[in-house]
Amino acid sequence: MTGSKNTKPFLKWAGGKTQLIVEIEKSLPNIGHSHFTYIEPFVGSGAVLFWMLNNFPNLKKAVINDINQDLINTYKTIASNPNELISILEILQSEYHHLDGNDDKKKQYYYDKRALYNTRKEEITSQSALFIFLNRTCFNGLYRVNRKNEFNVPMGSYKKPTICDTENILVVSEALRKVEILCGDFEQTLSYADEKSLFYFDPPYKPLSETSSFNSYAKDEFNDDEQIRLRDFCNRLDALNHTWILSNSDVKGKNAEDNFFDDLYAEFSIQRVNAKRSINANPKKRGKLTELLITNQVNI
Ligand SMILES: C[S@@+](CC[C@H](N)C(=O)[O-])C[C@H]1O[C@@H](n2cnc3c(N)ncnc32)[C@H](O)[C@@H]1O
Repeated sequence: MTGSKNTKPFLKWAGGKTQLIVEIEKSLPNIGHSHFTYIEPFVGSGAVLFWMLNNFPNLKKAVINDINQDLINTYKTIASNPNELISILEILQSEYHHLDGNDDKKKQYYYDKRALYNTRKEEITSQSALFIFLNRTCFNGLYRVNRKNEFNVPMGSYKKPTICDTENILVVSEALRKVEILCGDFEQTLSYADEKSLFYFDPPYKPLSETSSFNSYAKDEFNDDEQIRLRDFCNRLDALNHTWILSNSDVKGKNAEDNFFDDLYAEFSIQRVNAKRSINANPKKRGKLTELLITNQVNI
């Protein structure tokens, strides 16, 4: 990786961590040697993963995981078959841009591709290309599915979205060589840890109110019991001497009486940091919010 171009996420994703990275960097334990294993169990678009790969070129290995199988298949395609993926994306991009000025036809094109994606009958590379196409052209880059796992986000209003970022796909593909890519529940990542590993958790955030819920990335909801299961997992990692950093919403910022996370993580270090959220249907609600960064701060 040394000397190669910087990688960046190839997707827009709810909760993308780009703005939080500065704060995460300050919370990193004193990584005296950079030869460690990095594990990200809720990888999403991988903003922190790519930052780690850029900044720690001597990273021993990285392990990423997500429960969203379509997302993980797209990572696998980029890793193993970037050129074919690029060819398909180039076609999608030129067909879509060719319809500029004809809104009805453009809309029809988007909804046809969405229906094709939802059949899940295409082979993995075409399916991954459709995944990227929809991510680039849908409303706010949201990923939302219904109970039948059908992607149901409407078309967005981007003028000329980049659908095929050839250069980035190639550098991401190169960077993914040292990354193990897993699909499933976050707990399975423990068996991939080395003696001392660094975990970064960015789970679906606990909603600040009933209506602000953004955590429908997968069919199954990430409710309070899941947040507690994650805390139990963090306790296990701590007992095993692994280091972890976790982000989540600051429910106390909204309701001073709400001690949910302060109670759950009482024995660890909890920091409140400013973070800008960009995904909200209502622009007035895209203002500043505090988020939590919690860590067990064991040096690795
Ligand atoms: C807040 S997003 C992660 C955002 C990511 N850090 C980024 O930069 O884009 C949470 C992710 O957790 C995944 N997820 C939900 N439940 C999960 C589970 N039980 N195990 C693993 N991943 C899960 C979702 O599919 C989603 O991609």
